[in-house]
Amino acid sequence: MDRFLTPDDLGKALRQDVADGLGTRPRTLPAKWFYDERGSELFEEITRLEEYYPTRREREILAARAPEIAEATGAVTLMELGAGSGEKTRMLLEALGGTLRTYMPVDVSGDFLARAAERIAEDHPGLRVRPVVADHERHLALLPGGERRLVVFLGGTIGNMAPAERVAFLSALRATMNDGDALLLGADLVKDERRLVRAYDDARGVTAEFNRNVLNVLNRELGADFVPERFEHVAVWNPGDEWIEMRLRSVAPQVVRVPAVDLEVEFDEGEEMRTEISAKFRRDRLDAEAGAAGLRIDHWWTDPDGDFSLSLLRPA
Ligand code: TRP
Repeated sequence: MDRFLTPDDLGKALRQDVADGLGTRPRTLPAKWFYDERGSELFEEITRLEEYYPTRREREILAARAPEIAEATGAVTLMELGAGSGEKTRMLLEALGGTLRTYMPVDVSGDFLARAAERIAEDHPGLRVRPVVADHERHLALLPGGERRLVVFLGGTIGNMAPAERVAFLSALRATMNDGDALLLGADLVKDERRLVRAYDDARGVTAEFNRNVLNVLNRELGADFVPERFEHVAVWNPGDEWIEMRLRSVAPQVVRVPAVDLEVEFDEGEEMRTEISAKFRRDRLDAEAGAAGLRIDHWWTDPDGDFSLSLLRPA
């Protein structure tokens, strides 16, 4: 397994993010720390919620379009960033069966990757499975190349980056692409506000627990003394920026200690810290951001209701 990231690097990045995010107001906590073992389980549960449409919609589009994707790309190497849900990967692997030789899943979690890679390799004898432990926001330039590469970035994760980060990420990716390579990008679309908010604030409170779980991560990794029940989950639609904002709101005045970064953090009653954004797109915004990164949208597919998009981008 190639490693560009060690558990030690991750610890350092976590301490840096927490010191920056909690040390100043308004307080923030970066979302990438959501996905520990428990967080990953909770996210899996979110993807099965009635309210959370993106996973189902993206899977529908993939099921309908996988043969076209295979036809359009003729990919020999499939590189999946943030290697996630086995099922979507499987659909692509099957459709690309005629040309594909190497599958390269990229993720920050080595344990998760090793398990996923093993399962895929068992089911696809003859396929070379080459997992890479890396942070796709920092190590794009270091990732191994490959002949006729299809890079896939699914789940609407592009929307979890701020606009400037998105263009930086797409530009860095573009810099690694040759003519004939392509990027398959899943992006959630702007829609009715009530449906959007429900997808991030479900009736059973699974998303609330997922959001609060980041506090458990800080308690375990940094010796912090957050009491998760003293923070409530908030999801709001920001119409100006067209993104959902996830926050944690302190239900009482409180002081939290984070020994590993030597912080004592005071929260007022009602004070909110932002944990995540989930941007929703329109075609013109994606066109513009792709263009700014030296890419163009070659194919654009949505589900029949226009809830979610999959696009195939190529060097402009
Ligand atoms: N990429 C997912 C999304 O934006 C992540 C996500 C879903 C999420 N629900 C969440 C992140 C709740 C934080 C809180 O849709």
